[in-house]
Amino acid sequence: MKLYIKTFGCQMNDRDSEALCGLFLDRGYILVSEPEDADVILVNTCSVREHAENRAISFLGSLKKITNYKLQITNYRFQITDYKMVIGLVGCMAKNRGEELFKKMSHLDLIIGPANFDKVPYYIEKIRKEGVRIIDIEDKERKEDFYSSSFRVRKDYAYVVISTGCSNYCSYCIVPFVRGPLRLRNPEDIIDEVKRNVKLGIKKITLLGQNVNDYQYRLSAEGSTRGSTRGGFASGEGFASGEGSASGGQITDYKLQIIDFVKLLRMIEKIEGIEKIDFVTSHPKNTSRELFELMANSQKIKKHLHLPFQSGSDRILKLMNRGYTKEDYLNLVNDYKEIVRGTLSTDIIVGFPTETEEDFFETKDVLERVRFKYAYIFKYSPRPHTSAFKLEDDVPLKEKERRHKILLDSQRKISLEFINEK
Ligand code: 5AD
Ligand code: SF4
Repeated sequence: MKLYIKTFGCQMNDRDSEALCGLFLDRGYILVSEPEDADVILVNTCSVREHAENRAISFLGSLKKITNYKLQITNYRFQITDYKMVIGLVGCMAKNRGEELFKKMSHLDLIIGPANFDKVPYYIEKIRKEGVRIIDIEDKERKEDFYSSSFRVRKDYAYVVISTGCSNYCSYCIVPFVRGPLRLRNPEDIIDEVKRNVKLGIKKITLLGQNVNDYQYRLSAEGSTRGSTRGGFASGEGFASGEGSASGGQITDYKLQIIDFVKLLRMIEKIEGIEKIDFVTSHPKNTSRELFELMANSQKIKKHLHLPFQSGSDRILKLMNRGYTKEDYLNLVNDYKEIVRGTLSTDIIVGFPTETEEDFFETKDVLERVRFKYAYIFKYSPRPHTSAFKLEDDVPLKEKERRHKILLDSQRKISLEFINEK
């Protein structure tokens, strides 16, 4: 059997697609590079902006031709009448638009949200045998088995998911609705995966979470993380009585009750064979000086921080529900530069509802003052379910494009300075 997988979106989606491929490879499938050659096509999608959804929809539409063509060829050449190519729409868009697309696109056999990825091979089997169509977009905790395969796209570098979903509810963001609330992976499972990467010869890893600083894992009383309460809670709640220690990635201190992101990093750092660690994404509202101290003193943690500021206007930041002001952000950046002496990158949204020229100039000011190594600049896209969706999208597209271009031009010059400084 042959699998073709197409991925839209972020690093989290790249890792999900890799893990999905692994599940199929472990069942004897092979990967192909053209959809025409596949028996199973999976399209892993992103819903963060409408543009990403539209690209995926147009790709899904183009697959209809392939199914017809493949059916004809197979029937003609091999006289097989029950041949079934299976096409699955998986990931964030399955959750956001799945029901609608299930009705509209009859060539889609499977629609499955990000929480149920471990079941994809099982559903594909069922579809092939029974000729049914399946939609499963229920939100639940992902099974750990999902990460079990040793398949890695790259031989020198790997992503490791530390948490899924998000409970921050930035007013523009669809992630909490499509990926569900914040759920933490057990630290021992994370460490196991890092060690498995080392066994595969991989020395560099990137830890992935929508906001890595939200990682606050509560341990069970015995000190083992297995079978302990899952899920995050507000920092400060029920903090540990003693500082934990970890050797060789093992959790040894029984007094330790909470493993936060900094502690998790310390454990991962101690794993023999790992040489470089980085992580995305850090939300400015709970990025700590403690993290900076660790970054400064570590031989393994990359001295680079992705710290999205989204807007430089306090009024817009409040409307975005970001939990910090322009001044808070600039102070944090100063601390980072002083302590870590590393580089920064960021995400910015232009044209959020009611954004004025004055608001925009506050954003431009942050961009120019901080001097990011690189920046991802987005035009605001209204997303269903979000609280900003209720606001009028009142900045005209032309104006969003103008602001977008101004920031891109400005950032291009700064990025060039970084290249020339080398
Ligand atoms: N419109 C535009 N950009 C968005 N992002 C998230 N939601 C939206 C939206 N509705 C951007 C943010 C985030 C990045 C991953 O995508 O900048 O940090
Ligand atoms: Fe979206 Fe905000 Fe969560 Fe990031 S922190 S995933 S922007 S809700």
